[in-house]
Amino acid sequence: MSHQPNRSARRNDRDPRYANRDGPRPRQDGGRPSYRAGQRPNGYRQPAGYQRPAEEIKLSHTLPGIRVLDGRRPRILTKNLVPGTISFEYEERYTDEQGEWRVLDPKRSKLGAAIMKGLQQSGFKEGSAVLYLGASHGYTPSYVSDIIGPQGQVYCLDFAPRVVRDLVFVCESRENMAPILGDAKQPDGYAAQLPAEGVDVVYQDIAQKDQVGIFLRNCDRFLKQGGYGLLAVKARSIDVTRYPADIFKDIKRGFETGEEAKRYVIVDYRELDPFEKDHAFFVVKKK
Ligand SMILES: C[S@@+](CC[C@H](N)C(=O)[O-])C[C@H]1O[C@@H](n2cnc3c(N)ncnc32)[C@H](O)[C@@H]1O
Repeated sequence: MSHQPNRSARRNDRDPRYANRDGPRPRQDGGRPSYRAGQRPNGYRQPAGYQRPAEEIKLSHTLPGIRVLDGRRPRILTKNLVPGTISFEYEERYTDEQGEWRVLDPKRSKLGAAIMKGLQQSGFKEGSAVLYLGASHGYTPSYVSDIIGPQGQVYCLDFAPRVVRDLVFVCESRENMAPILGDAKQPDGYAAQLPAEGVDVVYQDIAQKDQVGIFLRNCDRFLKQGGYGLLAVKARSIDVTRYPADIFKDIKRGFETGEEAKRYVIVDYRELDPFEKDHAFFVVKKK
C-alpha cells in the first residue's frame, strides 16, 4: 500500500472545479506578510512582544509640550529648543511647517516608555523648574528641556563624573539645563544650587536599592506643594529575588496607605514592559 499522500484529494484553489465553491482557501498565517514578528520591512525593530496600544497613544496628545505622531510607527515629538543643534548623534529629527521636532526614543527613555504606555499626567509644563535625579548623559533631560521651554530650568544631577562630563556638553547648548555632580542620597550637597522656593517637578531615574526612600527625601525637601514627583522604578535594583509586580504593589500600597500617603497621592502609574523590563513609572502629586 502506498504511503504517498493522496494528491487527488488535496484541494487546488486554481482548479476550476473548485471555483465559486467556498472562496479561496484562507492562508494558514492569516494573510500577514512573511517578515518575522517584531521586524518591519523598513528595518525598524519593535521590542519582542510589543503590541501597539493605538487607543492609549492618542491619550498622550494631552501632555503639554509633547506631540505624538500616530500611525504604523508612532513617534513622540518635542519641539527642539535649539533648532539646528544635534544634542545626540543618534537622535532622529523631524521638520514641518511648525519647526524642528526631536523624536523621543521609548527604548532609551523611561519617560518615552511611559508615554507609549499611555501616560496621561507628567506634571511638566512650560516654565517648570525640574530637579532631575540620575541625569546620566542628559538624553531624557534634554527632552524635558524642550518640553519646559526657555522659561523653565532642569537641574540635572548625577554622581558619576564620567557621564557628567558628557552632560556638561549638552547643557552648554541648552541654557535651561544645569549640570550638578552630586549624590541623590545627600541633598545637603546640592541644595544650594536649587531655587530656594523649591521645584515644580522632581524626576528620578536611579538604580538604587533605596530608590523610593531617596525619591521621598528629595520630594519632601525640594518639591513645592502641588508639585509632581515622577519616579522610574527598577524592581531588580530593589530586590532581585522578588517578583517585580509585588515590589510595584508594595510601593503603591505605601503611597495609598503608608506614611507617605499623608503627603502624596498617585496620579498616574504605568508598567514599562516591553520597553523597559521590570520597570514601572509612578507620578505622584504633593498634597
Ligand atoms: C538609567 S541611568 C539614567 C538615564 C537618564 N535618566 C535618561 O533617561 O537619559 C541612571 C543614572 O543614575 C545615576 N545614579 C545612580 N545612583 C545615583 C545617585 N545616588 N545619585 C546620583 N546619580 C545616581 C547613574 O550614575 C546613572 O547615570
